[in-house]
Amino acid sequence: MRRFFRPTWAEIDLGALVGNLRLLRKRVGPRVKVMFVVKANAYGHDATLCALAAQKARAADWLGVSSVEEGVALRGTGVRLPILILGSLYPFESVLAAAAHDLTPSVASLESAKRVAEAALRLRRKINIHVKVDTGMGRIGLRPDAALALVRDLSVMKGIRVQGLYTHMAKAEDDRGFTARQLKAFNGVVRSLGRDGLRPPLVHAANSSATLRHPEARFDLVRPGLAAYGLLDGFAPVLTLKSKLVYIKTAPKGATVSYGATWRAKRVSRIATLPIGYGDGYPRALSNRASVLVGGKRCPVVGRVTMDQTMIDVTGAPRARVGEDAVLLGSQEGSVVPASELARLSGTIAYETVTALSSRVPRTGVGA
Ligand SMILES: Cc1ncc(COP(=O)(O)O)c(C=O)c1O
Repeated sequence: MRRFFRPTWAEIDLGALVGNLRLLRKRVGPRVKVMFVVKANAYGHDATLCALAAQKARAADWLGVSSVEEGVALRGTGVRLPILILGSLYPFESVLAAAAHDLTPSVASLESAKRVAEAALRLRRKINIHVKVDTGMGRIGLRPDAALALVRDLSVMKGIRVQGLYTHMAKAEDDRGFTARQLKAFNGVVRSLGRDGLRPPLVHAANSSATLRHPEARFDLVRPGLAAYGLLDGFAPVLTLKSKLVYIKTAPKGATVSYGATWRAKRVSRIATLPIGYGDGYPRALSNRASVLVGGKRCPVVGRVTMDQTMIDVTGAPRARVGEDAVLLGSQEGSVVPASELARLSGTIAYETVTALSSRVPRTGVGA
């Protein structure tokens, strides 16, 4: 059976993805490893497609996911790269599954370390872990002094090898002072461990913005997500959200469109229907605000975005006819609707715009 019939899909440009990762590699140089962050279904881009493309092209050394479930799913599709679980493993029943699938847990408490050590004992082998330090993000992670103490304790705990030590930047995109203070606190821990001969082999701190704007944050490994998906300036966008015009009608002057009749034709208008709505992750907040590309022309969304269908005014798009492609996010014939535009219009950030695309939208890899 065909994978999908409804003409709404997301094209994932794997060539662009690999190009972005290679650009990042070039920027950080050969001594710094790249952990490609593919959590949340690769920010909506399809974790399997993206991870396998990066692995095949040798464009990443590590992958980062948020949960054991995400890591296990990748292992099931043939991903062999080392995988770090960036989130908490609480209530720790998953530690054994993580180890069995060769997934590397993050540890941010003595309790979690002990649970990993128990699993190591049962499996009769050492388990690599990365210790998470909180230097200003305020989510999971030990304060610097506590992290230092934990790594010292773990250095004598059986079954555990502290392979990594890491922190996460809260404002690397726009606050040099804050980032410098985070890095100072982190460096304090790294240096103290170094003096004790306990510096782990993989020290890391940098998301995309820190990688690009703060070279001193690169340490042994960087963890880009946003730049890899082309959602930062200088990188090629990877995702294009497409649909087709499935129905067109002429609306007389004064006719209204969609729930609440919030749009009324000021002139005789051609209104096209697209089979996509907020059930696909195209936000209702874009009602009467966003534009959709048809034949490279911007066509305004008219009326409310509904669960499964969205209407656009194609009066100004001479090529509009049933069956014509529409681009809701991405570029077409030299015009572009960037994720940042949809994010701004719906009051959020590009991360959420792409991650929100629902599982109802098939992702197809192109350009590999
Ligand atoms: C721990 C961690 N590292 C790296 C990243 C990647 O960040 P970015 O997409 O800004 O590059 C994230 C994403 O939120 C993260 O949570």
